[in-house]
Amino acid sequence: MSIIDRVKQVINVKNLSISFGRKIVIDSVSFSAERGTTLVMLGKNGSGKTLILKAIAGLLNNYSGTIEINNKDIKKKLPEGKSDPDNFRLAYVFQKGGLFDSMNVYENIAFGLKRMRLDKSIIEERVAGSIERMGLQGSENKLPSELSGGMQKRVGLARALCLEANVVLFDDPTAGLDPILSDSIADLLIEIKRDMDTTSIVVTHDLQAAEKVADSIILIYRGRIVFSGRSEEFFSGRDKYACQFIEGDIEGPIDIF
Ligand SMILES: Nc1ncnc2c1ncn2[C@@H]1O[C@H](COP(=O)(O)OP(=O)(O)OP(=O)(O)O)[C@@H](O)[C@H]1O
Ligand SMILES: [Mg+2]
Repeated sequence: MSIIDRVKQVINVKNLSISFGRKIVIDSVSFSAERGTTLVMLGKNGSGKTLILKAIAGLLNNYSGTIEINNKDIKKKLPEGKSDPDNFRLAYVFQKGGLFDSMNVYENIAFGLKRMRLDKSIIEERVAGSIERMGLQGSENKLPSELSGGMQKRVGLARALCLEANVVLFDDPTAGLDPILSDSIADLLIEIKRDMDTTSIVVTHDLQAAEKVADSIILIYRGRIVFSGRSEEFFSGRDKYACQFIEGDIEGPIDIF
């Protein structure tokens, strides 16, 4: 790999394998995402997409292979007291919301910012900004149990947004949202890429959103990558795996179960 490629690549996954007992779920998967781009990860239910995101977020230890962010292995900790000039901030939008049941909307969104020990006024400003952006005004004092599924999803997105992270992992950000809201979330992903040079991985089953936001696409099947390329190539209809996935055909290289 050339030096220029190394600078461009923010997320670099090499030969990632994940097993549970004797079951190999992810089998030597390699891909990378360049700075300021969006990589969309597609695949059937249970194909291992969430596991890959968890590994990149550092939430999974039982994997083999390497995951680098800004050319540093995420498993290698810096010596005590050393700061990293290439430090990055990562935000993760969980598939199931991941909200704290006992905290209200405001506290849930502010949680990560409080841990960063930012000034109270900055926290308030950023939380208010994300609340407005996600259309959650008036719900600040509600508990997650008092919200609809779509609203809970938006709180999860607001919490990630206000971190102003360089790397964002979105697990199914439009699942369960109505079509208008799904489309506005897709627009939001494009906005944060443009305005903040964010590098993101978006897992989705929403092909319309995928086509709108993706620079590159990987398709996971049986623990391996069966398509990896530019978004235009995926949607061009030339690849047999991509074609079957787009059309939802029963016939083709991908089995239903
Ligand atoms: N902790 C675990 N122990 C055992 N098996 C697990 C564990 N976590 C995930 N798996 C298995 O790994 C596979 C991949 O799971 P994963 O949640 O990553 O799928 P996914 O692609 O995100 O699916 P979906 O589209 O439904 O969200 C599944 O077969 C799941 O049962
Ligand atoms: Mg999942």
